[in-house]
Amino acid sequence: MSPLDAAPPSSAPRINPLQRIWLREIGMERLWLRPAPAAPRPAVAPPAEVSRQAAPVPPPAAMTEAPAPMPPAAPQAAAGPAAEPAPARPGVPASILNRSGPPPRPAPKAEAKAAEPPPIPVAEAVKNSNLEQLAEQVVACTACGLCQGRRHAVFGQGASPTRWLVVGEAPGEQEDRQGQPFVGRSGQLLDAMLSAVGMSRERDVFITNVIKCRPPGNRNPKPEEIAACSPYLMRQIALLKPERILVLGRFAAQTLLGTDATIGSLRGRIHQLKTDEGAEIPVVVSYHPAYLLRSPSEKARAWQDLKLASRTL
Ligand code: URA
Repeated sequence: MSPLDAAPPSSAPRINPLQRIWLREIGMERLWLRPAPAAPRPAVAPPAEVSRQAAPVPPPAAMTEAPAPMPPAAPQAAAGPAAEPAPARPGVPASILNRSGPPPRPAPKAEAKAAEPPPIPVAEAVKNSNLEQLAEQVVACTACGLCQGRRHAVFGQGASPTRWLVVGEAPGEQEDRQGQPFVGRSGQLLDAMLSAVGMSRERDVFITNVIKCRPPGNRNPKPEEIAACSPYLMRQIALLKPERILVLGRFAAQTLLGTDATIGSLRGRIHQLKTDEGAEIPVVVSYHPAYLLRSPSEKARAWQDLKLASRTL
């Protein structure tokens, strides 16, 4: 027999099981029922649901005094006006769930459910994406702090499949505003360089960056930002399958080739990038257009680099 089914001592008024739960909940069960000192407590453990609800709640001082006569029913009226509406739970009066005071500790299972799922690393998330899905993932990416200051993530732009993949460093102010790569002065120079070797941005190349969001004030990307973002570039390479990669500037070259060699030592020769799929893609390193705008005398070297990239086709 459940303790809830136990008959009250003969001296106490008769109450039904729900009223008993309610009395226990507000700490008045013993006062109300005033059992004889010798009355034995049943040794049967109460059902888990009931015992969790009946966890000790310190009664307000007024409740430790002798109780006023109890209304026979309507336990809901005991809930305070400020009490949150509680979800209905089968077999338990709403007033128990509506009680004031500290909320009941949720069961461990419910805690696990409510916890945020751990973020899926970018590399895992992009593994099976197509180019369109990848672009959506980049636009929605929150894998590093750069997402907080961006206007637009810049996925890239161009032909797919593509002959050349052109890889810069990161979006600047104009790119962040417009959501397209190399649209500022550097972009105009890049277009001129490409057309000098018969390549067009729309038809032959896909232009992107190692980092898809603008670092504040165009500062250098941090290692954790590079680590968070590089899987996007790797997936772009796998999907676009470029015949050639032209990588612009020291930062992009070092990141893509996994080296800290100087740009001077990296240009002038063909590197091979091994993809996860086992392919080898020729890589040519050249100066960043922004550097060429500051140091126009280096354009002759950049011209040599473009010819090298074209020759190996
Ligand atoms: N510089 C870059 O490296 N990339 C851009 O998209 C624009 C400027």
